[in-house]
Amino acid sequence: MKTANFRLPRYLGAAGALALVALLAAGAGAAPGERPAIGPLPAKKAPKASLVEMGKRLFFDARLSGDGALSCASCHNPKQGFTTRKPLSDAYPGTRHYRNAPTLINTIYKADFANVGWSWDGHMGANLNDVVRNEITETMVMNLDMRLMHERMKQDPVYVKMCKENFNGECSSGKGRKALVAFMKTLVSRDAPFDTGKMSDAAKRGRALFEGKAGCVSCHSGPYFSDGKPHNTGVPENLDVFKDPMRHLTYRSVITNHGTPKADIWRRDVGYFIVSKNYADVGKFITPTLRELKYTAPYMHNGVFATLEQVVDFYNAGGGKDDPLARELSPLGLTDAEKKDLIAFLESLSSATPVTVEPVKIDQKYKAIDKWLSVHN
Ligand code: HEC
Ligand code: HEC
Repeated sequence: MKTANFRLPRYLGAAGALALVALLAAGAGAAPGERPAIGPLPAKKAPKASLVEMGKRLFFDARLSGDGALSCASCHNPKQGFTTRKPLSDAYPGTRHYRNAPTLINTIYKADFANVGWSWDGHMGANLNDVVRNEITETMVMNLDMRLMHERMKQDPVYVKMCKENFNGECSSGKGRKALVAFMKTLVSRDAPFDTGKMSDAAKRGRALFEGKAGCVSCHSGPYFSDGKPHNTGVPENLDVFKDPMRHLTYRSVITNHGTPKADIWRRDVGYFIVSKNYADVGKFITPTLRELKYTAPYMHNGVFATLEQVVDFYNAGGGKDDPLARELSPLGLTDAEKKDLIAFLESLSSATPVTVEPVKIDQKYKAIDKWLSVHN
């Protein structure tokens, strides 16, 4: 599956993800009741610099989308915390997305700290390479066949050189995905006050609330601040997903393609139900990381909250009003001063200066291909 160049049928992908969830649940490290403590992210081995360069170029290259309209950076913008300020993401021309684009900062840690797949509901990929394949081939994202990516890379002398340097061979889409993963390995929090031990007094008080009275740590645990599990916090729907036909049809196509029961009747984002098909999971989303929030507003799977104040007010009120049986939160009774402290703590989990990279200018337009061919034929 790792090196396959074709797309697996959707149902196989979902079954694979389910099997993996079951496997991980059975073999998960921590003993029952034991939760990994919050703390600094462990350092990772730096990927090869030349491979990172190749991944970075691919990240900014619109030729990775079918019609050349979008690069990864269009929706995961390095100047906006590797996401955008839009509550609901853009999508491939002719469609609109029904989810908020998550930040890619620290996404590499998801494999270590989250027990299910990537994306808000865990439906994407068993590993990051798989997720990249999803982003490139998915019709509503970049809509490019892997074999075309292969050809487009081989037609650009810069990639030909990079593939030779990094893999001592010809370009392939698989090598391109490896390079993109290497690039994402470099997108990690830097010098967050929480990690460097330079938290303000307010942030320190906020931490005590986070781990105590406010109970946030019961789901946002470990160095990545996620238990990797699906939960129902009752976040209200973003009605654009249902009022805007372009977003609605994108949503409907995804739940239909995943074989979601009663796909034609849902008037809400069913969340993790797409993966598990268990009705108890309707409206559950995978606990996201809380790192880099300073740079990644708006918040939640559908971007309904514009500020951290709104998020904390939401939790203070006991979350949203879902089915009483599905609700997992209760009111917290935080004072205004406590709410401020909690926000100061959340902000201390963001890098001291934004994690970003300079865009790579791609001069090789399709025209350059002719030149390349004339040299090599
Ligand atoms: C058209 C907009 C768009 C483009 C282009 C795009 N993405 Fe995404 N990406 C999204 C959205 C929206 C999600 C969340 C999907 C969901 O939750 O269902 C996402 C999710 C992800 C995730 C999962 C993050 C997590 O924390 O779970 C990764 C990793 C990712 N994208 C990487 C990439 C890479 C690499 C590229 C380029 C090859 C790319 N994306 C191109 C919109 C986009
Ligand atoms: C029952 C588990 C649970 C508890 C307890 C919990 N969260 Fe969450 N949190 C989640 C889930 C799940 C989401 C994603 C919900 C969604 O997108 O619909 C989330 C999302 C968030 C987000 C948005 C992150 C983003 O990138 O959009 C913030 C901020 C947040 N939580 C902060 C907190 C704080 C502060 C507390 C304590 C007051 C807390 N959470 C308690 C599970 C929990």
